Amino acid sequence: MYKKKLIVANWKMNPQTLSEARRILMILEHRAPLMNKSEAVICPPALYLPAFSHYVHSVKLGAQNMHWEEAGAFTGESSPTMLKPFNVNFAILGHSERRLGLGETDQMVNVKVRSALRHKIIPIVCLGAVAKAKKTDMKKIVAKQFRATMKGIEKNELHKIVFVYEPTWAISTSLHSKPADGEHARELIMYIHKFAGPNCRVLYGGTVNKHNAREYAQYSEIDGALVGAASLDPNNFWEIIKEFERESIHRG
Ligand code: PGA
Repeated sequence: MYKKKLIVANWKMNPQTLSEARRILMILEHRAPLMNKSEAVICPPALYLPAFSHYVHSVKLGAQNMHWEEAGAFTGESSPTMLKPFNVNFAILGHSERRLGLGETDQMVNVKVRSALRHKIIPIVCLGAVAKAKKTDMKKIVAKQFRATMKGIEKNELHKIVFVYEPTWAISTSLHSKPADGEHARELIMYIHKFAGPNCRVLYGGTVNKHNAREYAQYSEIDGALVGAASLDPNNFWEIIKEFERESIHRG
């Protein structure tokens, strides 16, 4: 099955003004029609989504989080039915910063994934968040998180989900951070495919930038990247996209 590469920008709680956010978006929006083999998804802070929904044509929009209920007594949350009218087609779920910093559990991620599927929002599920995990523990961690977050989800629904192998130790802002080497990322991505089947996309996340993007793009098994810090610089993010485009074109 032919799968376009997916390059996802996770802006986290940045940039500080809507005008700066719009500036970055418009640069990417202008270049995005040049993409053939890949798609770009921008996940800005939720407060910018209503404005962004008017500006996007070629790039897609994602939320950085989503509550599983449609409405109710959930202070500070955004629901899938509130996000949908703003052209939000994706939602990052179970990011390491939400799990380790804000106490999000596998069980919460599971109900969010099920809700996203019901509302036709594509879940981008992060696997690999554990404090102080060693590289050699990652298969065990990923297998456990996969089982728990996919509970009750039919096998024939898995292709609708995007997975990200994102070990906490590789995220640029974590203590002693070190990006995974391409071979390790590839191995874990193939491992996730064993559970998730061949048809879904599995990305790598953790300090991807224009200098190391080829390290990941060179492997056909790596279906794209989740990019944090580097995605706030439109030129840096564009170079990452170009790297995935170039490698895909080489392979035909
Ligand atoms: P980073 O962030 O690219 O800055 O490491 C990735 C992420 O946390 O999603």
